[in-house]
Amino acid sequence: MDVIEAIKSRYSVRAYKPDPVSKEVLTQVMRAALRAPSWANTQTWEFAIIGGDAMKELKDILGTKAAAQDERYPDIPRPDWPSPYRERRRELGAQIYQLMGISRDDTEAQLRWFVQMYRFFEAPNAIIVYTDKGLSEWALLNIGLVIQTIALAAVNYGLGTTILAAGVSYPDEIRKLFNIPESKQLVLALAIGYPDPEARVNKFRSNRVPLDTVVTWYGF
Ligand SMILES: Cc1cc2nc3c(=O)[nH]c(=O)nc-3n(C[C@H](O)[C@H](O)[C@H](O)COP(=O)(O)O)c2cc1C
Repeated sequence: MDVIEAIKSRYSVRAYKPDPVSKEVLTQVMRAALRAPSWANTQTWEFAIIGGDAMKELKDILGTKAAAQDERYPDIPRPDWPSPYRERRRELGAQIYQLMGISRDDTEAQLRWFVQMYRFFEAPNAIIVYTDKGLSEWALLNIGLVIQTIALAAVNYGLGTTILAAGVSYPDEIRKLFNIPESKQLVLALAIGYPDPEARVNKFRSNRVPLDTVVTWYGF
């Protein structure tokens, strides 16, 4: 697959077919993704790849905590985005709610949607990305690169992904479930699976600010 085609066709998939992704395909995705660049080839990343009963357990634990609206305590604190990022974030939420027919005051439907997110949108598989605690911020930059590379490699196999901060909101529970040592910080999660083509939410494509808003040209 052409790399530009893969970049353009990737989007956050928020509804999946139940079919599990085979270990073989996930291995191919990860082999490709591990070619991602990192500071001095430090490769400051580790992955828990989840399927089967382990996935069911993960979804149940996080879904239950989300339904109870238990306070989130991610290893990397959730940001309080200032303007203009706050407005972009609000716009995304409003667009998804509108598409899903969830009104502003329907708190029950909003909670149902929220719980679905913590259940990895019912994806059959997940990837939890973690690293050693106490590393520089550059380690996280490396992880951003490998995560996008996973997302793009997945497209090649007909897979969809969602990058999920939600998925690492209760890190102690996840460390315990998968025997991840205390010395590791959970950075992000991905839902991964075959997109449900019928799902309305998968018709959604997020906006981007115009190129001229974020790009300044010099010497042209
Ligand atoms: C660091 C990071 C955290 C994210 N966390 C979530 C999340 O918790 N829930 C969710 O539905 N999407 C999450 N996303 C997906 C973004 O909302 C999505 O990438 C953005 O809206 C752009 O849309 P697109 O991926 O469809 O192009 C996250 C993305 C990134 C990069």
